[in-house]
Amino acid sequence: MGKLAEQGQFQTIMLEVGHFFIFCSDVKRHADFAQQEGDSSTSLAGCGDGCAIDATLVSQNRVIAVESMGLGSCYIGGIRDRIETIADLLQLPEHVYPVYGLSVGHPAHRNPVKSHFYSSAIYHHNH
Ligand SMILES: Cc1cc2nc3c(=O)[nH]c(=O)nc-3n(C[C@H](O)[C@H](O)[C@H](O)COP(=O)(O)O)c2cc1C
Repeated sequence: MGKLAEQGQFQTIMLEVGHFFIFCSDVKRHADFAQQEGDSSTSLAGCGDGCAIDATLVSQNRVIAVESMGLGSCYIGGIRDRIETIADLLQLPEHVYPVYGLSVGHPAHRNPVKSHFYSSAIYHHNH
């Protein structure tokens, strides 16, 4: 991983942080099951989203956990630019692929909370 970052293929944040996690979508179990059941590849494609959502839920729980401990984190979606490289590096089985990276470490400083959407744009209250 370090070599790839040094070559400029990934952000150097991956080298500078205390921990770098890679969350993977595991379609392999579904693929094995579909093959066992003689299922079509259509249902396999459908569960790809679900597996990526699983990985997302796990990563978000990790963010909440580390931030509650006073650590900082940053998702690195940039690893998706090199999915095959990462899969080779981690020797992932077929049908398992990286979804996000997550940098975790002691923050050098805390950024102020940014303003996002107005709450009226994202929240509706039924009267
Ligand atoms: C799916 C996803 C992928 C991201 N990928 C990167 C990335 O590759 N590099 C990076 O510096 N930040 C990445 N971020 C972090 C965002 O740039 C941003 O800092 C973070 O979502 C916090 O949002 P906010 O600053 O608007 O509150 C990513 C965030 C998400 C949700």
